[in-house]
Amino acid sequence: MVTNVGMLGYGTVGAGVAWIMFGQGELLSQKVGHPLRLVKAVVRDLAAKRDNPPPLGFLTDDPLEVVGNPDIQVVVEVMGGIEPARSLILRALESGQHVVTANKALLATHGRELFDTAAAHGRELNFEAAAAGAIPVIRTLKEGLAANRIRSVFGILNGTTNYILDLMTKDRTHSVPYEAHLKAAQDLGYAEADPTMDVDGTDAAQKLVLLTALAYGTLPTVDDVRPEGITRLEPLDFVFADELGYVIKLLAMANLPKEGGRLEVRLKPTMIPKEHLLAGVPGAMNAVMIRGHAAGDIFLSGAGAGMRPTASAVVGDIIDTAKVGATGHPSAQPSLGWHGIKAEGILPPGESRTRHFLRFTVRDLPGVLSAISGILGRHGISIAQVIQRGSGPEGAPVTLVMLTHTAKEKDVEEALVEASRLDALTAGTRRVTVEDFGDK
Ligand SMILES: NC(=O)c1ccc[n+]([C@@H]2O[C@H](COP(=O)([O-])OP(=O)(O)OC[C@H]3O[C@@H](n4cnc5c(N)ncnc54)[C@H](OP(=O)(O)O)[C@@H]3O)[C@@H](O)[C@H]2O)c1
Repeated sequence: MVTNVGMLGYGTVGAGVAWIMFGQGELLSQKVGHPLRLVKAVVRDLAAKRDNPPPLGFLTDDPLEVVGNPDIQVVVEVMGGIEPARSLILRALESGQHVVTANKALLATHGRELFDTAAAHGRELNFEAAAAGAIPVIRTLKEGLAANRIRSVFGILNGTTNYILDLMTKDRTHSVPYEAHLKAAQDLGYAEADPTMDVDGTDAAQKLVLLTALAYGTLPTVDDVRPEGITRLEPLDFVFADELGYVIKLLAMANLPKEGGRLEVRLKPTMIPKEHLLAGVPGAMNAVMIRGHAAGDIFLSGAGAGMRPTASAVVGDIIDTAKVGATGHPSAQPSLGWHGIKAEGILPPGESRTRHFLRFTVRDLPGVLSAISGILGRHGISIAQVIQRGSGPEGAPVTLVMLTHTAKEKDVEEALVEASRLDALTAGTRRVTVEDFGDK
């Protein structure tokens, strides 16, 4: 028997998959137990100049040379986007082919339809590369931690934003604005020319949706996550984070409260304690922490993107898929972990309870502190710590920082709306979620 693999796409990830499969063909075949061959890849533009030119005749611009081709058993979708990727994957599954994909945007929006189709046809639909690149987090959740009830899954799921936040944390001049750090990341190839999906949190939220589906059998939408990006952070936020013993990370979190209740999913810039493992995750690295009721804490870290790291995850899936395909039997539980997903059970946005960092810019006048504390108090928010910075003549603007005790996000937002009407406020107030991981 032979497993033939066809790819949809020969871009960054596709070329990486070809590099591994052409370079390590014999070893991979040994691991599968029979010959494993990459035979075709579909592209849009056959005439395009390519950094990694493939063998002559390997590329085609006709998807039907791969999808529905009875000589190809595994289809690898690395073209990205929603259409035609969605239709091609459905067609491949319906015609009895197994599928491997790296497409988080597609799975986060059409996952249910795709996994139901895979199940109906007894085919595999594997997606290790879709969340956290080279880190085997999907396999860890599906297999390694299968015995566990998952308490929480949290981590850093986007390398571009972690790179920028790392620069902002290490900038001791505390004067370089976010935009300049983004430009530096782009110049060094750590951020795309259009970084919108990274910096606004969409990319990490899509990955969090996938991890939540696997960990809890509950499928949130990106809207449930209500992603908050990093674009509004200012150097001063990093100064105070440091002073208060925190580091700011774009934290993805899915958490089932110990006492029961609804699942909390969120993705936002978050102050986390300096001594926490995630605080030390540098540059463009990703990391995931999983808390299982029996296993305890598992920490995984590695490259979350890039040609070869992503291809490593894709080829791992190809090997697994080829082994299942070799049994000749439809998979009894294809894509284990995605079955019976429920839409309910997600905590509505705003109901999360954490501590909050609040940074006000106010005129230095008697009574301002008590006016703000009074508003917070009326909304049930108590203050753990206050710092005032800056001095000058009476009435000059100063910075007032408050760290709250645990409070509901919605209550804090309502209090800030009320506080914004105070004449003494001279600029918008900044709020950053604080996570101490105590009960997670
Ligand atoms: N890059 C990463 O580090 C990374 C990490 C994790 C996951 N992913 C995911 O992997 C997927 C691929 O990403 P990538 O960075 O490799 O993308 P890419 O470099 O833009 O490559 C896309 C490839 O698909 C082909 N393609 C696109 N639309 C097509 C169409 N309609 N018909 C035929 N071919 C089409 C393109 O053809 P042409 O070459 O002719 O343009 C190209 O070869 C995405 O879902 C992405 O989210 C990427």
